[in-house]
Amino acid sequence: MTKPGASDPKPSSANTMWGGRFADGPDAIMEAINASIGFDQRMARQDIDGSRAHAAMLAATGIVETSDVEAIREGLLTVLSEIEGGSFGFSAALEDIHMNVESRLTEIVGPAAGRLHTARSRNDQVATDFKLWVRDQIDAAVSGLEALQRALLGQAEAGSDWVMPGFTHLQTAQPVTWGHHMMAYVEMLGRDVSRMRDARARMNEAPLGAAALAGTSFPIDRDMTAEALGFDRPAANSLDAVSDRDFALDFLSAASICAMHLSRLAEELVIWSSAQFRFVTLSDRFSTGSSIMPQKKNPDAAELIRAKIGRIFGANVALMTVMKGLPLTYSKDMQEDKEQVFDAADNLMLALAAMEGMVRDMQANRDALREAAATGFSTATDLADWLVRVLDLPFREAHHITGSLVKLAEDKGCDLPDLSLTDMQSVHGGITDAVFEVLGVENSVRSRVSYGGTAPERVREQIARWRAILDNPTSR
Ligand code: ARG
Repeated sequence: MTKPGASDPKPSSANTMWGGRFADGPDAIMEAINASIGFDQRMARQDIDGSRAHAAMLAATGIVETSDVEAIREGLLTVLSEIEGGSFGFSAALEDIHMNVESRLTEIVGPAAGRLHTARSRNDQVATDFKLWVRDQIDAAVSGLEALQRALLGQAEAGSDWVMPGFTHLQTAQPVTWGHHMMAYVEMLGRDVSRMRDARARMNEAPLGAAALAGTSFPIDRDMTAEALGFDRPAANSLDAVSDRDFALDFLSAASICAMHLSRLAEELVIWSSAQFRFVTLSDRFSTGSSIMPQKKNPDAAELIRAKIGRIFGANVALMTVMKGLPLTYSKDMQEDKEQVFDAADNLMLALAAMEGMVRDMQANRDALREAAATGFSTATDLADWLVRVLDLPFREAHHITGSLVKLAEDKGCDLPDLSLTDMQSVHGGITDAVFEVLGVENSVRSRVSYGGTAPERVREQIARWRAILDNPTSR
């Protein structure tokens, strides 16, 4: 038995992954602030996909023996099945998903596992994992958006010629068609899809192989790993590759705009389902009751969707603020990039799914829409246009005459079509019986045939266009 000498390493509680120069382990508070495993375990699949691609490249380039790589790649699949099966014991001492996976891999395959991290760093690893994760969310958001577009199209098809009031300032403006109103959201969501796709195309460059920040002296093949992970190409600057999170900001920005759109539709559903409007009836499946007022049916899902913009846009602001002013390249600040993005993505998907269900299930009340469309002097513009067209008056004068007619109707407590011809002629002698034709709401919407207008025939063209787009993914 040899006597312990000064050269023997002290047993130390230092980290087994990087603790070579450390004599002491971390304080409990240090571990608590440093660990990301509590949340970044959500990137386990992406981490293992990235590691398997990296390992395959290490074998193909002769950097690591094929036999070791085979053991590593097999072992990584075992780790993944343990994680997905719920039997994996995550350790905060091992900080993050990357080191938890590698440590377990070492237990499974032995020292060969130590070769996996050749020509790689957690900096390019985490950037790769997070990009893969965000990319999956973009794909999920596009599916969710398209499902919602289909639900809106269904509503538009059912009521392409139903008449409802169109509003500006939430005051009755002109009659429009229900189909036209539904299709307005289809257009907005179509731009959300396109923003998501833009973000995806822009982000699709692989950080892997940038290593810690400067690249590596090993003869790696970055095209090979990029292709294996579905990236279009490797990122061209290693410093940039490990240190930007603009791809997550692109996603959050597209998500924020989408959440803003959802909040507007949600707000309309809240208003429309009220007893005062009765434009729509929400299904029981997407409503809740009140614990005290038995008559109530509340649009809670719509209200919650209306509120989701708060946390989604909040995440956008939070990440932008984390990234602001960081010197190149990686700083630990960047570990604060994930939780908010996870939360924003979860809530965006939930909001899209809930909105899709609500829109699919809701019943538009055709009679209430029609009745509301015919009040509030909604065809005053049609009257003014008639004065221009038939009596050849300048529009400004026609506007003034119509204003006087509205005032007259208001004084009499009736609507425009209820005025008699004599009433009309008292304001302008040239008005004839034919004016009454344009005062009806059906005629009003039928007349708005300009491209993009509310006439049912125009609306049906747009419905057909969107049906074709949604049924044929390559057309986008
Ligand atoms: N958990 C870290 C993160 O999420 C991984 C990268 C750590 N890199 C480092 N050099 N400490 O950002």
